[in-house]
Amino acid sequence: MLGFALLLVLLCALGGAEGREEVQRHGHISVVIVGGTGDLAKKYLWQGFFQLYVKEINSGNSFSFHGGGLSPIEKGKPVLFEILKAVSCPKAVSEERCAVLKEQFLRLSQYRQLKTLEDYQALSKQIEKQLQEEGMTEAGRLFYLSVPAFAYSGVSEKINSSCRPSGGAWLRVVLEKPFGHDLSSAQALASQLGNSLKEEEMYRIDHYLGKQAVSKILPFRLENKKNLNPIWNKHHIERVEIVLKETLDVKGRIHFYDQYGVVRDVLQNHLTEVMMLLTMKLPKNISNAEEVNQNKLQILSSLLPLGKNQAVVGQYQSYKTEVQQELNQTTDQSVSLTPTFAAVVAHIDNALYEGVPILFVSGKRLNERVGYARVLFKNNIFCLQDHNSVHCKPKQIVFYFGHGSLQYPAILVSKNLFKPALMGKEWMEVTEHKNVSVLGLPITDYYVQTPREQRDAYAELISHIYAAHKSSFVSTEILLGSWYMWTPLLTSLKDTFPRNYPGGADNAGLLDICLDGNDITFNNMEVIINHDQMGSSSASGFKAMQGKFRSADMVSAWTEELVETLAVDLQAAAEAAVHEEGVFHLAVSGGSTPLALFYQLVLHHSTFPWRSTHVWMVDERCVPLTELDSNFHNLHEHLLQHVKIPYYNIHPMPVQLNQRLCVEEDGGALVYERELSKMVVNSSFHFVLLGVGYDGHTASLFPGEKVNEHGESLVALTESPNKPHQRMSLTFNAINQAHRVALLVMGKGKHELVTQVSRIKDVSDKWPVTRVKPTHGTLVWYIDYDALIG
Ligand code: BG6
Repeated sequence: MLGFALLLVLLCALGGAEGREEVQRHGHISVVIVGGTGDLAKKYLWQGFFQLYVKEINSGNSFSFHGGGLSPIEKGKPVLFEILKAVSCPKAVSEERCAVLKEQFLRLSQYRQLKTLEDYQALSKQIEKQLQEEGMTEAGRLFYLSVPAFAYSGVSEKINSSCRPSGGAWLRVVLEKPFGHDLSSAQALASQLGNSLKEEEMYRIDHYLGKQAVSKILPFRLENKKNLNPIWNKHHIERVEIVLKETLDVKGRIHFYDQYGVVRDVLQNHLTEVMMLLTMKLPKNISNAEEVNQNKLQILSSLLPLGKNQAVVGQYQSYKTEVQQELNQTTDQSVSLTPTFAAVVAHIDNALYEGVPILFVSGKRLNERVGYARVLFKNNIFCLQDHNSVHCKPKQIVFYFGHGSLQYPAILVSKNLFKPALMGKEWMEVTEHKNVSVLGLPITDYYVQTPREQRDAYAELISHIYAAHKSSFVSTEILLGSWYMWTPLLTSLKDTFPRNYPGGADNAGLLDICLDGNDITFNNMEVIINHDQMGSSSASGFKAMQGKFRSADMVSAWTEELVETLAVDLQAAAEAAVHEEGVFHLAVSGGSTPLALFYQLVLHHSTFPWRSTHVWMVDERCVPLTELDSNFHNLHEHLLQHVKIPYYNIHPMPVQLNQRLCVEEDGGALVYERELSKMVVNSSFHFVLLGVGYDGHTASLFPGEKVNEHGESLVALTESPNKPHQRMSLTFNAINQAHRVALLVMGKGKHELVTQVSRIKDVSDKWPVTRVKPTHGTLVWYIDYDALIG
């Protein structure tokens, strides 16, 4: 926990102490939406401020609203007018009254160009002039920054230098995520903002804190303290699940999303906030922002560090194509590993929750849209006869954020727990139900309560900004504490291949997860199903299979399973060779295809017999071994340095001799050939791992290469059409002497190639890969579904 303590010290230096709330006084309030004609403003903000206006019109305060934008007034004004015309009144307001209120709201709202410092100065002058002319006292100024995060510090500086109210009126500046993309960028942003704004002036929005079911978590825990206290602990809680499932994809947002991914987009903020509300020590006063903040921090600081084993990630199948389209990438550039699905298990290291898994799950393109937090309790009742008896059913409390089978926000408590108190007069008990079930229980098995009126989270938070309820916002301390929690995991997931999922109902059980102690895995790691079900991208096609390709054996599966299968096969071959001969000779090719296999070996094959394995190169580029281009460099980075293999078992190709690269007379190819013949019985590798290029090359044997000229030699200097042109490669002679050759082909980009290669009847110089035909050994093609089906 030392790191977290240090972070807190740093925060104090940033002036991070949470909000002394301002004294409220009546007077005039100026609301400025910077980015007032943008999407968010159009969808939620103006509506939220109109609702505030309707609610507070008789509160003794007066209002003016300014929509700021970069466009000049003649362009911005009509856009704003259209947005304002569309606001609507709450149900309780009559039509006539609504028309009057809208009319007033329109009169009080105006468009302003807000671009330069002078624009902000002019805005401030205008506010002061209006106050003076109308003899009003100023209560405060509220700036809502609905602009991209990179603009925050610039706008805040302008507000600080020219728009601060005087005479004791308050300033509140509202900000929206993203607040950085990791701990250090969030720290940098926080300190930039700290130069212009005081902590109590910043209102960082997490719209989940405005969701009705979320904002009632603490009140619910407080109101039901008597019933909850005895069971809200590790002895009774089986696990906590915080889930946001979405059906939409991220089309149109790829520029942002591909940098971000689901962990940063949803888990780091929304789901973490919910987790803190569920697990923090119950504050004595739940409206005391300072106390809420401290208790949240306490939970964050007692989380066990999150490592790779605490997460599984996935990516929906069409994501890569969307990336290509929106980022204008070519197929071989698009290797985005950004997860669109993640499940993470966290543990709190304190006496109350020790050992209770806290599950965070979120994803795009899932089968339904629903959000909830569920506290599942242990049930130690055994029903001998009637398994439907209420005692035997799951005991759970569900904070249901909305959508899903219920379609409304709710708090549900299973009837075998207790009857909860009603959450105030704005909530009501639901007694008449549709025939639905919620998380495995028919709705009739729960006590259900729901808000009388559904309110949008933004409207809710806007009223909290107005009331200075700082506990509904994200303080600097919490923000950084949360990044402190998530950053190491994000770093360790950086190179992880997400599991590919088809999307929607077709995902079937593919994203089911399994908790194992402190770790988490996908539930179905190996599904080998038969051939006939292939060919469609439906759920039934989403399986692994064995088959034939160019009359050799083929294994095919989704990328992750395929790589796993290959790793298992490779280990089996290694163990068999070591058992029989005491040594395993493996030759690996370069390029990016084998990287996934290397990760798999490093992470999940700790018993691989590396000490008895010799690693040889299938091919090498004629560059120094230290260069990023070098196949050996890659192999070292991604495999060799992570496993316990003796140095003398590693055999890089001697591309650099006599201080020069691949010069025929230096005889590098011959040197390698001799080494090989000396060490490998019959020059016959136990296992050769090959890939295939878009042009059909394999190893560094390219189309048009006069392979016949290599004769009996095992190693040759060759030419590639791509840079670096000069290569050293095993010849077909060497490759075809192997006991076993694996040809690994992955990715949609290889689909065309796979189709073509499947059609070529005989060996063809145009398609060097067709020359791979082990004389006595076996060839197995490992082709993932992306490459096979396209
Ligand atoms: C946003 C994320 O913060 O929350 C989106 O950026 C996500 O990716 C959204 O879809 C979910 O919010 P809600 O209110 O629809 O559950």
